[in-house]
Amino acid sequence: MARKPLMAGNWKMNLDHLEAVSFINSLGMALEDRDFDYSTEVAVIPPFTDIRSVQTTIDGDKLKIVYGAQDVAVYESGAYTGEVSALMLKKLGCTYVLVGHSERREYHNESDELVGRKAQAVYAQDMTPIICCGEVLEVRQKGEHVDHVVSQLRGALAGFTGDQVKTLVIAYEPVWAIGTGEVATPADAEEVCGAIRELIATLYDRDTADQIRILYGGSVNSGNVKELMAQPNIDGGLVGGASLKADEFAKIADFKNL
Ligand code: PGA
Repeated sequence: MARKPLMAGNWKMNLDHLEAVSFINSLGMALEDRDFDYSTEVAVIPPFTDIRSVQTTIDGDKLKIVYGAQDVAVYESGAYTGEVSALMLKKLGCTYVLVGHSERREYHNESDELVGRKAQAVYAQDMTPIICCGEVLEVRQKGEHVDHVVSQLRGALAGFTGDQVKTLVIAYEPVWAIGTGEVATPADAEEVCGAIRELIATLYDRDTADQIRILYGGSVNSGNVKELMAQPNIDGGLVGGASLKADEFAKIADFKNL
């Protein structure tokens, strides 16, 4: 079953809206220089304040890059100071919304249940959630990483329909590999991504499991992406630090030609 690879650049709290415009221009040129064929989907996930500028730059230059947001409110509208609704993101043309990134789970106490509700808010506006999961180092050292990730996803996916799950993107990001330069070995990443696909087959069916895209995240760069992408259950990358350099991110997107 052919799943279109996805390389998503999670900018986190980096690049203001002016830097974002210049970055998108550079990324567009870097991809053009490589004769990139867009057989891999390229997404940028900037901070909220950049999204309108990213939208106008991409539309103005007719770039085939898609974009999304790093978080979303569970509520549709109302007295929720500081929150941004899924409808607001939809109106800005977002394709994807990250939910449950480990930094949100850690610094904002986001539970699996909340992550699931956020994903539902994203679906309600016909966008695609990228649900993040992953274990901390102590869990990995105890050998409980697969059980941990399965339990996170069971919690987050409760109540999802098969049709919703078919379009879902799941990002497996071992917390100990995020921003540390320490990348999971392709075999370690594959072990968990394979287990995630089996979980989906168990909860839904084989066809749904075959359609879902599973990304690996955690210190992905142009030097390790090819080996990671050679794993049967890894369909793309959620890239943090290396997505902030246009040439480097273009190389990662063009992993087939590295
Ligand atoms: P990293 O971040 O590539 O800098 O490790 C990945 C992420 O947190 O999404």
